[in-house]
Amino acid sequence: MSDTEDRRFPTDDPAVVTCGLPYANGGIHVGHLRSFVGGDVFSRALEKVGQETAFVCGSDMHGTPIAVQAEREGRDPEELALRWHEEFTEQFPEFDVDFDNYGHTHDGTNTELTREFVRRWIDGDHVIEREIQVAWDPEVDQPLPDRFVEGTCPYCGETARGDECDEGCQRHLEPGEIVDPVSTITGNPAEYRSRTHEFLKLSDFQAYLQGFIDRLEGTDNARNQPREWIEGELEDLCITRDMDWGIDYPDGEDGEQDLVLYVWVDAPIEYVASTKQYSERVGTEEFDWREVWGGDGRDPERSDIVHVIGKDIIQHHTVFWPAMLRAAEYDEPRAVMACGWVTIDGKGLSTSRNRAVWAEEYLEEGFDADFLRYYLATAGGFQGDVDFAWDRFRERVNDELVGVVGNFIYRSLLFANRNFGGTPGADLSPEVEERIEDAIGEFRDGVDDYSVRDVGEAAVRLARFGNEYIQRNEPWKLDDEEAAPVIRDCVQVAKAVTVLAQPVIPSTAEEVWSTLGEPGSVDEVRLAAALEAPPAEFGEPTEPFEKVDPEHTEELAERLEERVAAASEADGAGADDEAEADADADGEAGEAEAAGDGDGADAGELEPLADDRISFEEFQDLDIRVGRIETVDPIEGADDLVKLTVDVGVETRQVVAGIKQLHDLNELPGKKVVLLANLEKAELFGVESNGMVLAAGEEADLLTTHGDAVPGEKIR
Ligand code: 2FM
Ligand code: ZN
Repeated sequence: MSDTEDRRFPTDDPAVVTCGLPYANGGIHVGHLRSFVGGDVFSRALEKVGQETAFVCGSDMHGTPIAVQAEREGRDPEELALRWHEEFTEQFPEFDVDFDNYGHTHDGTNTELTREFVRRWIDGDHVIEREIQVAWDPEVDQPLPDRFVEGTCPYCGETARGDECDEGCQRHLEPGEIVDPVSTITGNPAEYRSRTHEFLKLSDFQAYLQGFIDRLEGTDNARNQPREWIEGELEDLCITRDMDWGIDYPDGEDGEQDLVLYVWVDAPIEYVASTKQYSERVGTEEFDWREVWGGDGRDPERSDIVHVIGKDIIQHHTVFWPAMLRAAEYDEPRAVMACGWVTIDGKGLSTSRNRAVWAEEYLEEGFDADFLRYYLATAGGFQGDVDFAWDRFRERVNDELVGVVGNFIYRSLLFANRNFGGTPGADLSPEVEERIEDAIGEFRDGVDDYSVRDVGEAAVRLARFGNEYIQRNEPWKLDDEEAAPVIRDCVQVAKAVTVLAQPVIPSTAEEVWSTLGEPGSVDEVRLAAALEAPPAEFGEPTEPFEKVDPEHTEELAERLEERVAAASEADGAGADDEAEADADADGEAGEAEAAGDGDGADAGELEPLADDRISFEEFQDLDIRVGRIETVDPIEGADDLVKLTVDVGVETRQVVAGIKQLHDLNELPGKKVVLLANLEKAELFGVESNGMVLAAGEEADLLTTHGDAVPGEKIR
């Protein structure tokens, strides 16, 4: 696919969705799960729109994250990494994260392919040897690659470890760059010694990368952040390390140094190796990895490869990796989706501090995996941070998943079963057909916009409509003949909700599918099934979800609070302990970065400041206007919502706002407000909302202006 015109999914080519490989050095927590769930939802959604897709990943077995942890535990790195790899292979299916192939970077396929990549780079004259200064611990007389050294980031001045500024600017650091290096083995200041290393000449790809970034799709952070990195002259990438644990540098002639490849060489190549393993398992007629990745002599092309990652590794995926692919004449990724952190009380999760909610612990508490999937997939935009709290988790699950989706499906199917033994014979009404078509459109747009949340919300919005529709038509007041078309519509909406929600809540969707008496699996069907007639007969449904018990989440919240307090104490105690390496699994927010100002205690319920900057142009895309409230009307059946008409100068807008309990409604007409005018239209309790009035905090303190600004004036 060398054309660069806007392509919508599905394409005629096979796609690959990957997730950033977890380091096999520790357990998985909700922070990690956010990107795995995101990748899983996205790959299932691609399948739903009819895109042939393989979803692949593997464990990241090499590098200092594993070596440091192994040294701490006094174990062999291979044994440690394999143990965690086994653990991951068991845990992902428990969250329905359903990789088509899950390999690891130490296996034969990846080792061989990595060597082939590096040989291609060497043959293409893209590798250069250089003598450089590397950190060295004089006491134990050994080199200190990557996480064996800590110091100060030369770019932003924050504390940084080895090869990454994890608490500051997130930049990759080359060997020798870190300032005031300290050995994490002994705590001694490190020396620098001269060593010979191999470099991939990134400078060969500067012009290519600039074009690549212009073509790249995905989340805005992944498309915009790299621009500053590729504007100046690109530094070449050191691809070897003085270590034993890793894949040997191929064709090392001098033999004087034991060089292995830098972990960031063999790790992304696992994306290709894992796809290759999948092809080998199912046969190339079913899925041909070369069609996706190229590398077989054809001109490198634009592909349908989508990388789902944490936002700390954007540089690796948008600068190093495309250059590595290009240098080996493989195809380039189409999109990078970089997700934000999960924080607790605004602070980054930490494996070593046990400031986390663990995947294992979540399951042990007996919660449905679909609940966490829903929460993680739809809590905020994918690239924004999400502050995890058990009460917010409970609220969202109980209000939206149980209260809206579960409630609608259950009441519709129960009514249908009790009164008609299944779907009544009647025509689908044009209103409902159109509403389902809109929901399918929202789902498709979510896929094309790489928005996991929009994909997830299409089903919830449709279920909201369903509840409003059944409420409006009151079938319980009608005789069977009159009720039949209403219930026919409702069952169709319930089926459509099931199809659309399946990528986010696959287990529940499967159960509802079988309750509906549908053949096969809802996993297999495409979006068009949402409009196909449901079976004429089906049995009595059970409630799709059980509510989360507030006492349960209160208890967990208390436990988490204690854990966070202990972690904060440990932070204080550990502040001087510079020798302690942080061997956390990645995908964790640097604490300084995620915490914002203050120490968390004073910050109370305040969310951390967003660390994703937007450009002035992006701000200008928001059409924010001064408005004046004209009328205020309650909305039937909605406890919190009111319908406002707001004069915005050029026209009068109808807007739904959740302010009923928080304001004296009689006092609102005449008040000046601030309105976001170009927000997507939404429908709440059957009432169209065309814009949003802006308000601050839990009490919905309405924003206003204080001078002469008249309705219609733009906020700048
Ligand atoms: O940062 C990390 O957690 C790495 N293990 C991610 C590797 S992703 C891929 F490119 F290899
Ligand atoms: Zn930095």
